[in-house]
Amino acid sequence: MTVPDTWTPESWKAHEARHLPHYEDAAELAEAERTLSSYPPLVFAGEARALKADLAEVANGHGFLLQGGDCAESFAEFHPNNIRDTFRVLLQMAVVMTFASKRPVVKVGRMAGQFAKPRSAPTETINGVTLPSYLGDNINGIEFDPVSRRNDPQRMVKAYSQAAATLNLLRAFAGGGYANLRQVHQWTLDFMGRTPWTEKFSEMADRIGEALDFMEACGVDPGTVPQLKGTSFYTSHEALLLPYEQAMSRRDSLTGDWYATSAHMLWIGDRTRFPGSAHIEFARGIGNPLGMKCGPSLEPDALLRLLDDLNPGREAGRITLISRYGHDKVEDGLPKLVRAVMREGHPVVWSCDPMHGNVVKSDTGYKTRPFDRITREVKGFFAVHRAEGSHPGGIHIEMTGQDVTECTGGAVAITEERLGDRYHTHCDPRLNAEQSLELAFLVAEMLNEAAGSGTGTMRETAAARVA
Ligand code: PEP
Ligand code: CO
Repeated sequence: MTVPDTWTPESWKAHEARHLPHYEDAAELAEAERTLSSYPPLVFAGEARALKADLAEVANGHGFLLQGGDCAESFAEFHPNNIRDTFRVLLQMAVVMTFASKRPVVKVGRMAGQFAKPRSAPTETINGVTLPSYLGDNINGIEFDPVSRRNDPQRMVKAYSQAAATLNLLRAFAGGGYANLRQVHQWTLDFMGRTPWTEKFSEMADRIGEALDFMEACGVDPGTVPQLKGTSFYTSHEALLLPYEQAMSRRDSLTGDWYATSAHMLWIGDRTRFPGSAHIEFARGIGNPLGMKCGPSLEPDALLRLLDDLNPGREAGRITLISRYGHDKVEDGLPKLVRAVMREGHPVVWSCDPMHGNVVKSDTGYKTRPFDRITREVKGFFAVHRAEGSHPGGIHIEMTGQDVTECTGGAVAITEERLGDRYHTHCDPRLNAEQSLELAFLVAEMLNEAAGSGTGTMRETAAARVA
């Protein structure tokens, strides 16, 4: 990609920016930005290009994107076990989907940098006291007191360190043996002994083990085929906090292009993707693969203009459109976007975020997401793509490897009364490990059906392969 003429890492400053924090002390902000600019990049541009190439395959109908992790990472929940557990649930989900679809699954964590949050209200009032809203641990603190709620630029530096350590562990797990397919049985978490889905997973793991035994007898084993020994795992977060993203931007010495080196993939949220926004301006100049959330307020014309801005060269793998309509709106709202994008020939990955349009308040006062609404949105997403002949290319979920009680429902039905047992999220409710695995089996079933019925891109792909 070529850097657009008028773009610089700070050209976003001349555009309308929503959801950015105000820092009281400009010198403090400049100091933090200087520090970050002098630190090593977290990812290398070549890795971002490798992810783009993987996503290009998905855009062409040859695979599936699994993107998941916390709604908001936090300093308090920073622990190696939490990183490991989320990673292994993502591995489990990916194996389930790969096994069913017989197609590669591209794994991208909402991890190692997912801190900043857009909030619906700038302030929060508790017992008559009003303070600024919590904006994410890289901006201010969740504790409800004036000191913690002050925007502190040094939090960006702390977030960088946490992202670096998280990414280091993820790289070690992905390449160091933990993700070896021979370990597939070991990925089941101790507390996951109770559901039909863990049993199903165990049966599948047995079959994978047999297949590996067979292949080993034929001379194909993890010693000779690196793909069996490790996996590719990428990171992503919402490109919300532009001072941080700008400070982490580097010019790639190989191509001369600019990359956000804070993660492999960045996405633009539903509230900051309006045409002409500062967030769009920043994103258009970086070479990373980009996600963009598409909610009910996005009209086809606006989407096409955004695609022209973000991907004028129509490079496959550059753009992932992440629809997040809500279980009752996806089948009405999504088709018009799909038709417009197909008509104009923009190569995109279509991914489904079944989380952000399905938030409800429980009678017990918790923000939650009913599991059946989540699955309904995923089913609606697949139905739309089946009808339109496009490729249902991925899911984007908020989940954790921890045994939390934040979303209601699932096979081990979490009731509204139980939400308070282990409700730990710093922002939106996440699927727990069991609910995530259950969703993976559901998606696997639909991928299987999509492949079997031979609709759309899958059919064309199959035809192309035969030809
Ligand atoms: C998110 O993904 O955490 C988020 C805020 O989503 P959206 O932009 O779709 O509301
Ligand atoms: Co969220």
